[in-house]
Amino acid sequence: MQTKDAIDTLLVESRRFPPPPEVAKNANAQPGVYEEAQSDPVGWWASWARKLEWMKPFTQTLEWNEPFAKWFADGELNASVNALDRHVRAGKGTRVAYYYEGEPGDRWSITYQQLLDDVSRFANALRKLGVKKGDRVAIYMGMIPELPVAMLACARIGAAHSVIFGGFSPDSILDRVNDSQCVALVTADGAWRRGNKVPLKANCDSAISKGMPSLKHVIVAKRTDQHVHMEPGRDHWWHELVAAEPTTCEPERMNAEDLLYLLYTSGTTARPKGIKHTTGGYLTGVTATHKLVFDYKDDDVYWCAADIGWVTGHSYIVYGPLCNGATSVIYEGTPDYPDKDRLWSIVERYKVSILYTAPTAIRAFMKWGPEYVRKHDLRSLRILGSVGEPINPEAWIWYYEHIGGSRCPVVDTWWQTETGAIMITPLPGVTTLKPGSATKPFPAIFADVVNDAGESVALGGGGYCVIKQPWPSMLRGIWGDDDRYVQTYWSKFQHLYLAGDGVKRDEEGDFWFMGRIDDVMNVSGHRISTTEVESALVDHPSVAEAAVCGKLDEITGQAIVAFVSLKGGDPGTNDLAEELRDHVATKLGRFTRPKYLTFTPELPKTRSGKIMRRLLRDIAEGRMLGDTTTLADSGVVEELRSRAITEAAKED
Ligand code: PRX
Repeated sequence: MQTKDAIDTLLVESRRFPPPPEVAKNANAQPGVYEEAQSDPVGWWASWARKLEWMKPFTQTLEWNEPFAKWFADGELNASVNALDRHVRAGKGTRVAYYYEGEPGDRWSITYQQLLDDVSRFANALRKLGVKKGDRVAIYMGMIPELPVAMLACARIGAAHSVIFGGFSPDSILDRVNDSQCVALVTADGAWRRGNKVPLKANCDSAISKGMPSLKHVIVAKRTDQHVHMEPGRDHWWHELVAAEPTTCEPERMNAEDLLYLLYTSGTTARPKGIKHTTGGYLTGVTATHKLVFDYKDDDVYWCAADIGWVTGHSYIVYGPLCNGATSVIYEGTPDYPDKDRLWSIVERYKVSILYTAPTAIRAFMKWGPEYVRKHDLRSLRILGSVGEPINPEAWIWYYEHIGGSRCPVVDTWWQTETGAIMITPLPGVTTLKPGSATKPFPAIFADVVNDAGESVALGGGGYCVIKQPWPSMLRGIWGDDDRYVQTYWSKFQHLYLAGDGVKRDEEGDFWFMGRIDDVMNVSGHRISTTEVESALVDHPSVAEAAVCGKLDEITGQAIVAFVSLKGGDPGTNDLAEELRDHVATKLGRFTRPKYLTFTPELPKTRSGKIMRRLLRDIAEGRMLGDTTTLADSGVVEELRSRAITEAAKED
């Protein structure tokens, strides 16, 4: 028998939203775009690549040496020139690139000319410190304008940036800087978050004290004015370095396949992967998708409310919008500071017309209630976007009705750090929307649903999401580990890129994402590996063993559940549970703190000693247990089930 909730979900899921005629008429993407791209996919991508500014135009398009792709490989260009100089040269120097709003309420706007000046000065300063083409530079900052400036300055001088999300811990900084041997680390004294100061520089100091042999310079922007230690010879204040630098800086000529950036993401092991993105193909992908998926036009004010520390911010706050000459908003802080209407006050103030956010945020807005939304005039909005995790149909409808006033198409965009750009998505003027479905592959993207044998499943069936042909913004590998690249993405099925997501495709060919199929959790849109959290727990001196899994959560999508057995059969206490949660937060970052933690004398294992995670997931989510016949000791599960799972009282 179906529960009332399940029936409500079905009713919501079955609603259909054809494109509003006024959106369809003027949309950048018209219905013919799919056929046009399909008839010559590589040529279609090349036509987008030609819209960029090349220092040496490409004559080659795709070189596919599976699984290694090269796109436009004999062309030369510079990402910062595409983001800035060409707009200034075209007379758009006075156009606003970013409206900036700090969490404490400070606001200003930055034009394309000002951004180019700032980028040039910082690029000159980096060069003076000896940073050169081919180097890697780590960036660990909050959401301040210096963050995109630092990224673009690296791009200007040909150094690859490796941005480390400001919520990460010192150990995470250490691993990332050392893995790719960064020569410089750009940070700030602190960052504002919910009225508190996050000690960014102190976190860097703590990481550096553990040993960073490649690191020569630390550059510190001033934001919170808190006291920080400055190591003579190594540490430099940003404002002092740039003070005497000129506002012109010769950009490096970069090959299309030169590394633009690394971005670390969690996989199924404890060691994060440095995903490699190169220049020409990546810019092509983000420019095309930003223009067509968000239907971006010159008079729009666009706001992607993600953090630049994740791929969404790289592609849709920095490179995509700037390459399209867009006017965007950057907001520093959390949506509930000083009150729960902060985002709506920003939409109203800047007349935001395109808003891109995450389901976890939308569910929080739902919980807070529509009264916060109603305080503000949101009539400027015309397109809404969602990213990061599956959006449940109820949240989709709430977003559509309460934020979009039932007039704005909602584009649910599926993609990954690895794909660089949006892959499966509606196009606002073309697609009939279905709440909860990311609908169809973007033009010239060949996604499929396959079974365990790698065979395409018929419409109406489910399986693994795969991509069948290379695309320009695809990852070019994992830093320093080609084998892992091949192993992770190209070994389960022949000739197919494995995304790691389970998906169903309905009778009309629309995709419905079901979540990860591997040991990766998705908490508030953040990718966290179960093994990473387990390693952090086992690192604590009292822990003997730990197993971690995700549990469905009303707000964050999934929440982290940890099962821990202590050394010497210690039964554990509430205080120790708190200490262990904090330990994980300190080791990895505050967003990885387990919400639930249960002590258990033993973990359920097979006779060969493998932890049975499937059972743990069943226990965590309160389901009937599946097959337990392979368990070495079935008493363990009964014991575990009888223990109440302790819920964290303290939230991040
Ligand atoms: O599981 C999918 C989920 O997020 C994963 C990628 O995470 P990350 O590399 O951190 O990038 C997030 C932002 C692009 C995917 O494997 N995911 C992302 N967007 C969606 C999604 N799941 C369902 N629907 C989406 N729209």
